[in-house]
Amino acid sequence: METAASIAQEVMDLEKEYLLQNYARYPLVLSHGKGAYLWDVEGRRYLDFISGIGVNALGHDHPRIVAVIAEQATRLIHSSNLYYHQYQGPLAKRIVESSGMARVFFGNTGTEVVEGALKMVRSHGTKIHPGKFEIISLENSFHGRTLGALSVTGQPKYRKDFEPLLPGAGFVPKNDIPALEQAFSEHTAGMILEVIQGEGGVFPVSQDYLVRVRELCDRHDALLVFDETQCGVGRPGTYFSYQNFDPPILPDVMVAAKPIACGLPLGFIAANEKAAAAIAPGMHGSTFGGGPLACRVALEFFDLLDDLLPQIRRVGAYFRARLLEARERYPIVKQVRGQGLILGVELAIPGSQLVLDAMEEGFLMNCTHGNVLRFLPPYIITESEVDEAMAVLEKVLAKADRDAGASPAS
Ligand SMILES: Cc1ncc(COP(=O)(O)O)c(C=O)c1O
Repeated sequence: METAASIAQEVMDLEKEYLLQNYARYPLVLSHGKGAYLWDVEGRRYLDFISGIGVNALGHDHPRIVAVIAEQATRLIHSSNLYYHQYQGPLAKRIVESSGMARVFFGNTGTEVVEGALKMVRSHGTKIHPGKFEIISLENSFHGRTLGALSVTGQPKYRKDFEPLLPGAGFVPKNDIPALEQAFSEHTAGMILEVIQGEGGVFPVSQDYLVRVRELCDRHDALLVFDETQCGVGRPGTYFSYQNFDPPILPDVMVAAKPIACGLPLGFIAANEKAAAAIAPGMHGSTFGGGPLACRVALEFFDLLDDLLPQIRRVGAYFRARLLEARERYPIVKQVRGQGLILGVELAIPGSQLVLDAMEEGFLMNCTHGNVLRFLPPYIITESEVDEAMAVLEKVLAKADRDAGASPAS
């Protein structure tokens, strides 16, 4: 007889036989979600503090998103970029108004819009002179897995099997101003960075550093690209993470993806007029990018986001304070980083076992960079859901502390 457990096993066996074995999935077969919760096919409930790696920003089964998808699906799902539809223009206007940029291009994924931004940088530089094609990025960064995006991803483990990558891509350590100054030259066409490195372990870049990056890009007529795929679009408590500085530090180009269409693939490049001028008709495009369904959902998302920003700041600050309290109690917690609802807890030990232990207790989080517990919860979470998360987290931290031979401070 088929049981829920045997259905789950069948799913996993079939994938093992027929899928490229590039993912190391957890043994969890999901069935459905509601708000900040997910259920597996065996009926177990999980509090979701990773939200599809920062995608399901409105949680699961959000009534307004579901209604818009259902309505638009009956009208027009896809139309290509040969023709106009009603939603790209208004969405681009929303992005321009919230970002301080001037023009928008729509793609599908973070990687794809990073690629587009790199083309913009190349085209901008080589129009000035043919040797101006170099791109600086940060060590420990993550910008995606295609060859161009990998070329500017400063983590050898992702790059090593695919080298040689793009010529002219170089890395500097974050927050090291002398190294930055040395890296810039007349050959520099642009610099790309995440204002808060996500995949690399939730490491914020300092304001002083960003101010200097901006000055050097201006001095060398190089384009500054911020990759807000993970750290932007509401997650930091503002529309974009560069808006958390006073005054904001504006890039020339900004890319984002993940949450904007609430689970449908949609990414964008937003550029100022100078950067936008690097792309002339025919130089770039995408079949699926900016389709009517994804754009209409994203418009709905932006409408909801306006009201959610204060909640993201409030609940994010509460969550951060609870994590800082935990640092006092559990010696294996070294540091708490991030802002809004992109938060990381650096441990003195590897984090993978804690992720499994938490999953057993019905709480989904993620470990990145080997020893950083990463939290990217949906923007709709409340203080009481944070309390529920902390109850599990404290339990797994206490166990890990005991296992590591340390005892809680109090
Ligand atoms: C900063 C950053 N850029 C780019 C990407 C790639 O995005 P995608 O997986 O949508 O292609 C990611 C993915 O995690 C990311 O965090």
